[in-house]
Amino acid sequence: MANHDPIRVGVLFSKTGVTALIEQSQLSGTMLAISEINSAGGIDGREVVPVYYDPQSNPALHSVLAERLVLTDKVNVIFGCYMSSTRKTVLPVVEKWNRLLFYPTLYEGFEFSNNVIYTGAAPNQNSVQLADFMTTNFGSRMYIVGSNYIYPYESNRTMTELVLQRNGEKVGERYVALGATQEEFDPIIADIKKKKPSFIFSTVVGNSTQYLYKAYAEAGLNAKEMPIASLTTSEAEIREMGAELAAGHYTAAPYFQSLDNEVNAAVLASYRKLLGTDDVTTNMCWEAAYFQVHLYANAFRASGSDEIEALLPHLLGSEFLAPQGRVRIDPTTHHTCLYPRVGRANAKGQFTIVREAKRAVHPDPYLVTYSLGDWTARIDALDV
Ligand code: ACM
Repeated sequence: MANHDPIRVGVLFSKTGVTALIEQSQLSGTMLAISEINSAGGIDGREVVPVYYDPQSNPALHSVLAERLVLTDKVNVIFGCYMSSTRKTVLPVVEKWNRLLFYPTLYEGFEFSNNVIYTGAAPNQNSVQLADFMTTNFGSRMYIVGSNYIYPYESNRTMTELVLQRNGEKVGERYVALGATQEEFDPIIADIKKKKPSFIFSTVVGNSTQYLYKAYAEAGLNAKEMPIASLTTSEAEIREMGAELAAGHYTAAPYFQSLDNEVNAAVLASYRKLLGTDDVTTNMCWEAAYFQVHLYANAFRASGSDEIEALLPHLLGSEFLAPQGRVRIDPTTHHTCLYPRVGRANAKGQFTIVREAKRAVHPDPYLVTYSLGDWTARIDALDV
């Protein structure tokens, strides 16, 4: 007899707290993929049922809810986490119970777990390209502003090394609380005005991102001369702050909503249909959250189970034609081959892509060989 039981999967993205905005887009990407899979007959006729909890952007709560998903809801996989501080608390849970976490967020690298699949960019897929782009086009005096937790500290350390390698210098490094308001940014912007860096590298995350750009604009700084470069300011944050504040600033990511290809157009159409509106906003974290569910479903179809021993052999090395291009899970690192791109925010709240790799870049989370092959074939459409 065929098994018609629903397949329960855990979903942990925050609807509340400091990173609710970007995490809700990850939740939407996850739900879009689940809806597509179920509309097409599920996984071998079995419906995929998300078991969702709101971890409230709270690291400790992530761990409690991950354990509840495993022990009470009996899921084998969890799709979840934005901040690295939250991933770090879910990691021991999936390792202890031998379950699998799919993590759809760019992060600082320097991690491997057999119980995690990493589908966001590692530093060799965004930081290396951003450092190259900014120092080439604007100069090499960098001022860093970040949120006060693990990802910004580690990402800033890597970015500093990359800029120093190019004979550049770090002229400032400041941190603000998660959830910071504009008052915390104003003195930093005043210091930036004094130090006159070539560019500002921001690892500010979440709902306070808007206040950095606001403080910058109100101080009369000019993005043509001293732009903000980021790995985390996406279309979601821009929608919140308004296109005008972000215009002219840069972000490096494997996916932008503005990508002009058939797969992106089809997935955006599917998303518009699901939400019942043409007015949708997507971003790199939404896209990773979307394609990782399809990678999971395809591996399940091949293995007949989502228990980790059954799933991993089919997941590792598997490919999917995603909106950013054909992605592949690297069996050695559990990270994903992705397409580095640099975008400049435009007047529509979207990104104009100013440079991109034509081929997927292999993940190198420990930055062992990152200088090789990062911009294999590139488009230089820069007119800053
Ligand atoms: C992050 O904390 N990995 C954005």
